[in-house]
Amino acid sequence: MTKEVVVLVSGTGTLLQALIDAIESGSVDARVAAVVSDQSGAPALERARRHGIEAIAHPFRKGGDRALWDAELAEIVGAFEPDLVASAGFMKLLGGAFLARFGGHTINSHPSLLPSFPGMRAPADALAAGVKVTGATVFIVDPGIDTGRILVQTAVDVHDEDTVQTLHERIKIVERELLVRAVREWEPGES
Ligand code: GRF
Repeated sequence: MTKEVVVLVSGTGTLLQALIDAIESGSVDARVAAVVSDQSGAPALERARRHGIEAIAHPFRKGGDRALWDAELAEIVGAFEPDLVASAGFMKLLGGAFLARFGGHTINSHPSLLPSFPGMRAPADALAAGVKVTGATVFIVDPGIDTGRILVQTAVDVHDEDTVQTLHERIKIVERELLVRAVREWEPGES
């Protein structure tokens, strides 16, 4: 069965691109029904449009009503009736309304070996901690911060000369593979 997937993005969209490429090559039986971003100018939205995928911006205005924004996001995503929501570089926490509707079938990619280094600065935190190995994790989103059930992980070596950028880019290489694998292996009804 072809899985209908909605992808949430905030930035460059290289994880999204990896999923699109895998689908177009026939290695994942899925369809990206839409890409939704909290950032109107996210390059990831352009990537979607270049592949004929509906790309929607749902910006959160500073000082706005976060719960309302979250409920609106759930409505936007719900219109596509996804089997799976994939957060791929989405930099907002998903709230109660969204998780009430899509909890259990929303996955997120994170650039560390959770539970180590949750949050927004995982590569920087790994460098600061002096770890020799970090990695990437795809997990099922729950109400916590990067605390959901882990689906797949891959380790990535930290090099002495690494900066946050070089480490994060190396992690993203494996994140792309992990995200594709998680979507490929996802079975509706899994939670
Ligand atoms: C990934 O490392 C993701 O885990 C983090 O931001 C990065 C997104 O990269 N939240 P891209 O936008 O897919 O290139």
